[in-house]
Amino acid sequence: MHVLSRRSFLAGSALSLGGWVLLPAIGRATENNDPNRFVLMADTHVCGDLMVSARGCNPAETIQQAVKDILKLEPRPSAVIVAGDCAYDHGEKRDYEALQGFLQPLRQQGIRLLLAMGNHDNRQRFQEVFPDAAILSGSPLEDREAALIETPYANWYLLDSLKKTSYTPGHFGEEQLAWLTTSLDKAPSKPALFVAHHYPRTTDDDNGLEDTEAFFKLLQPRKQASAYFFGHSHVWSLKQGPEGLHLVNIPANAWLFDEKQPRGFVDARLREDGCDLTLHCLDRNDNHHGEKHTLQWRGV
Ligand SMILES: [Fe+2]
Repeated sequence: MHVLSRRSFLAGSALSLGGWVLLPAIGRATENNDPNRFVLMADTHVCGDLMVSARGCNPAETIQQAVKDILKLEPRPSAVIVAGDCAYDHGEKRDYEALQGFLQPLRQQGIRLLLAMGNHDNRQRFQEVFPDAAILSGSPLEDREAALIETPYANWYLLDSLKKTSYTPGHFGEEQLAWLTTSLDKAPSKPALFVAHHYPRTTDDDNGLEDTEAFFKLLQPRKQASAYFFGHSHVWSLKQGPEGLHLVNIPANAWLFDEKQPRGFVDARLREDGCDLTLHCLDRNDNHHGEKHTLQWRGV
């Protein structure tokens, strides 16, 4: 099954779709969880060795800080989406064990976790640690998996850009793009939002999505295609791509390659015709903290 109804999404069913793992919330979702509020994270890079730091950042500390901050949001988000690179470097089993422990308080508060695989992840080891994610039957895709999550104001398409662990560029593949085309054509008037790990390529040989051109080509004529959210670069940015498609680079929650970049997550609140994004920095003194952006969907 690729399509989760809103009811099953909110009711706590488990479904794993290859690269994407949709973990059920184990606590009771309360009225406090807003079905139109989502936390978008990327590049958590949690390491099984909790003492490990890279570029002056200890991912065990930053993930715990993020979870603490997310739990303070009122009303609570219905889901936390991590756009890949959940693990430290090579997707070790112990990385996912640590991640599971750190994210548990979210699940206990009825917040769904939607975790994607990035180039530093390993699907098999992830699924060993999250056995409730090992439901793969019914997928029509051979080497990529994708999921559609229906919510009141928009459909989230959770895409799989992991080609091979430790191979830095990403790839959706023809089969996944064909599935996406068919799926989009079934709901032409519902705003569609896409999430995957890799950023769109801007040159022929950068470390982004190898089939960016094909991806954009299919989105352009489908006016409900509204925004693409991704990580990978450890940079926070908002741009507009072809014909008003919003391109949102979610900041890293772990180390930075440029210390001027913010570290944290994005609080997304969907409306009927767009969404409001607020940047939440782990460092409250960061000038970017609280930055707000209002996105208007091009097709509505
Ligand atoms: Fe990363």
